[in-house]
Amino acid sequence: MFSWFKRKKTIAFQVQIGEGGQIIDLQQGDNLLAAALERGVAYPHNCRVGTCGHCKTKVLSGKVKPMMDFALSPLTAQELKEGYVLACQSKVQSDLLISVKTDTTEHRTGKISSVQRLPGEVLALKLELDLPLKFEAGQYANMSLQDSHVSRSYSFADEPLVKGNNKVSFLIRRIPGGAFSDLMWQTAAPGMSMSLTGPYGSMGAANVDVNSVCIAGGTGLAPVLSIVLDRLKKSSSARFTILFGMGRKEENFAHEILEELSIFSAGRVQTKLILSDEPLESNWSGNRGLVTDLLTKELMDTALAKTAFVCGSTPMVKACRDQLISLGWEDKNIYTDAFLPSGAANLSINQSNL
Ligand SMILES: Cc1cc2nc3c(=O)[nH]c(=O)nc-3n(C[C@H](O)[C@H](O)[C@H](O)COP(=O)(O)OP(=O)(O)OC[C@H]3O[C@@H](n4cnc5c(N)ncnc54)[C@H](O)[C@@H]3O)c2cc1C
Ligand code: FES
Repeated sequence: MFSWFKRKKTIAFQVQIGEGGQIIDLQQGDNLLAAALERGVAYPHNCRVGTCGHCKTKVLSGKVKPMMDFALSPLTAQELKEGYVLACQSKVQSDLLISVKTDTTEHRTGKISSVQRLPGEVLALKLELDLPLKFEAGQYANMSLQDSHVSRSYSFADEPLVKGNNKVSFLIRRIPGGAFSDLMWQTAAPGMSMSLTGPYGSMGAANVDVNSVCIAGGTGLAPVLSIVLDRLKKSSSARFTILFGMGRKEENFAHEILEELSIFSAGRVQTKLILSDEPLESNWSGNRGLVTDLLTKELMDTALAKTAFVCGSTPMVKACRDQLISLGWEDKNIYTDAFLPSGAANLSINQSNL
């Protein structure tokens, strides 16, 4: 019976972590991160879905099969050229010699110093940390209420300081019924104790003097603010065009934030808002549609942008990247921060479902 089923032969491989380092036995097709963790290796990791960059691994020899398009990952074009992969998104295809960067994340506790409940059910949260935390623009932290096991990822909305930041701020969109965002929307108050680990991720575009187009969907504005504030400080010439996509005009939580940014930047930041769900009968006379509708050749010619930052939901990030590629942009100039839904760690991510 069932003789037409041939038993699949498993091929064993060895993975060595660093020259002369620990060796583990794996099967062909094993997920590199999962298999290493199962074998007790303290492998750096966080999201497990290819967004945080924490499991970044240099393949010194051997082959892995990517489970996602690494161009959409936090790996830079240079890192891809140098043979870096994401262990959580790699299937082992041969014996491997790999090198893994040691864990640099830190744990901090702190208290909420201010809470604002903004339109569109967005919580603007400021925390005062017990010790400064260093991060780079566009990175994020995992946040939880102190002593709670529910932890979620949120992008820093601040300009990173060289000595680290004692004060950090976040924009958290309430997801009704969401274990963390809904609880925070309902209960967050000054004085509450919070825990953070981080930083995670990477949006590190090297040249700060070039103009950038920054595309944000909803609270994707948080990492964009961090990137723009950082670059305004580091360059006296770079200009920024922010394309900001929202549902309806009453949900615009960022009106004041963007006005302040425009004044602070002395005209170097220009923002275009586009609404996807504004009722036709409303008196809104601005742009309507998806943020990709603003990504035109004319806009790019005017913005003279050399770098694009795209932050927000995964479908939005993918659509913007595709649009930029169709306008002739190279992947190496597109930096993305996709807010994968929490719980997505159990999904197999590949380009077709991004
Ligand atoms: C790298 C990264 C950075 C992020 N930065 C931010 C940020 O700056 N601001 C922000 O508001 N959010 C951000 N997120 C999303 C955030 O981490 C949480 O996923 C989100 O707040 C929902 O958590 P929750 O506990 O309230 O919902 P959960 O209890 O985890 O989920 C409740 C329901 O909502 C769905 N869901 C979960 N997450 C999302 C989502 N992101 N979008 C739509 N549906 C979802 C779930 O599938 C589930 O059905 C980021 C995510 C990542 C991976
Ligand atoms: S653990 Fe692999 S990218 Fe986050």
